[in-house]
Amino acid sequence: MKKVNRPLALTIALLTGVAVVWAAFSPATAADKEKKAGEKKTDAAVERTRKTVRMLDDLYKTAVVAITTHYVNDTDDLSAGSAAKALFAAMKEKGWHDVRLLDATGEPYEETNVAKDDFEKAAVKEMKAGKGWYDEVVEKDGKRYLRAATPIPVVMDKCMMCHPHYKDAKKGEAIGLLSYTIKVE
Ligand code: HEC
Repeated sequence: MKKVNRPLALTIALLTGVAVVWAAFSPATAADKEKKAGEKKTDAAVERTRKTVRMLDDLYKTAVVAITTHYVNDTDDLSAGSAAKALFAAMKEKGWHDVRLLDATGEPYEETNVAKDDFEKAAVKEMKAGKGWYDEVVEKDGKRYLRAATPIPVVMDKCMMCHPHYKDAKKGEAIGLLSYTIKVE
C-alpha cells in the first residue's frame, strides 16, 4: 500500500482552505470592477437614448400640431400625419432612426399603419391602458437598439375632420402611437 505523505497532504488541505476563504472574502478584482463600470456605462447609454426619444417625440408631436393648426383646413389638405411619415422616411433613409405612426383604434386611415410585431402589439395595449411610455432594449447583429412607444391622444377637434371615429375616444385616451427604433450608442 502506498504510504500517504501526511504533512504534505495536510499542507495542501490547509492551502486549499485558505484559497477558498480568500476567494470568498477578497475585494472585487480589477476585472470585476471593469465589468461593473461597463454595465453602468451601457445603462447610461440606454438612459441617453431614452432622452433622445423624448426629445424627438416632443419635436414630432409639436410639428404635427403646428401643421394641423396652421395648414390643414380641409379634408383634401395634406395631413400632418402624411407629412410626418415623409419626415420619418427621410430620417430612416439617412440612418438616424426608425419611427412608425400607428393606429390604436382598430380603424386606421391607412391599412399599413397598424402594429406589426410583438413589441408594437404590446405597445398598443399599454397605450390603451393609459401608459405614457413603453420600451424594450433589443439586440440585433451584435448592436443594441431601444424600441420605445409613446401615445397619441386626440389633441384637437380638427383631427376628427378626417378621423370621425375619434369622437368615440375618451378624453386623453390614446387613439394612436409613435413606435421608435433607435440605436443605443
Ligand atoms: C386632413 C385630414 C387629416 C387630419 C385633419 C388628421 N389626419 Fe391623421 N391621418 C390622415 C391620413 C391621410 C393618414 C394616413 C397617412 C399615411 O399613412 O400616409 C393619417 C394617419 C393618422 C394616424 C395613423 C393611423 C391611421 O389612422 O392610419 C394617426 C394616429 C393619426 N392620423 C392621428 C391624427 C391626429 C391625432 C390628428 C389631429 C392632430 C389627425 N390625425 C388629423 C389624415 C388626417
